[in-house]
Amino acid sequence: MYAELNGLRMFYEDRSSSDPTGVIVFLHGFPLDHSIWRHQLDYFSTSYRCIAPDLRGFGASSELKKPAEPTPLTVDTFAADIVALLEHLHIKSANFVGLSMGGYIALAIWRRLATRKLVRRLIFSNTRAAGDTPETKANRKRQAELVKTQGTRPYADEMLPRLLAPENIERCGNEVRHMIERTHPDTIVATLEALAARKDMTDWLRRVQVKTLVIAGEKDVISPPSDSELIAREVDSGKLVVIPNAGHLTPLEQPDAFNEAMYAFLR
Ligand code: MLT
Repeated sequence: MYAELNGLRMFYEDRSSSDPTGVIVFLHGFPLDHSIWRHQLDYFSTSYRCIAPDLRGFGASSELKKPAEPTPLTVDTFAADIVALLEHLHIKSANFVGLSMGGYIALAIWRRLATRKLVRRLIFSNTRAAGDTPETKANRKRQAELVKTQGTRPYADEMLPRLLAPENIERCGNEVRHMIERTHPDTIVATLEALAARKDMTDWLRRVQVKTLVIAGEKDVISPPSDSELIAREVDSGKLVVIPNAGHLTPLEQPDAFNEAMYAFLR
């Protein structure tokens, strides 16, 4: 389905049982799209209304305008799009699950007083609250240059072994590569800049007043379990689950364990 909002045509999946217990909004990571949640959509749409958008510029949502508008693109831009989508769908309260960048966006929605009431519960998957280190910023700059000059394929080559645990590359690699390679280079470059510019949100964690689940992948090298431990420690009612044999894309790599943890938390 598509919604026209904030100057873009946003694609989203909206799947539901006939009598849903509540709403879950699934926010994908970078540089991916809503299909990273396909196992969760199958599982949770039997009892919840599940909304899974493609963020601005990603998947089937419209490409970024040139130059990127609004300029610069920020995590708050993505958050504002999600809030507009929920307004469009007349949804007043939802559980938010965010994978990595999706977690930054969920926290940004919580951070804004005006949109805080939307958030019923939070699930942070494979994410972190800290901003980029100087090394990460420099690496993003190098990656942006790589994508600008050589396109998305070498970027996908570089990212795949970082996104997935070694044992899951054969099973999940092709679909993740497809998501990365079909993302417009301009979207990747603008988002790398947005991620490098984001602020440290650790202080905000203490102000989170909704029940929160934190899920980590045991073998995540991008947001290692220590990042999730910090979130669970800082958030008052934070609960941590570390999933074995998973890298950065835990919902795709170990869907059964992920779904069980999420189900037990939401129940
Ligand atoms: C993601 O999966 O969304 C990215 O790893 C986020 C990031 O690079 O900070």
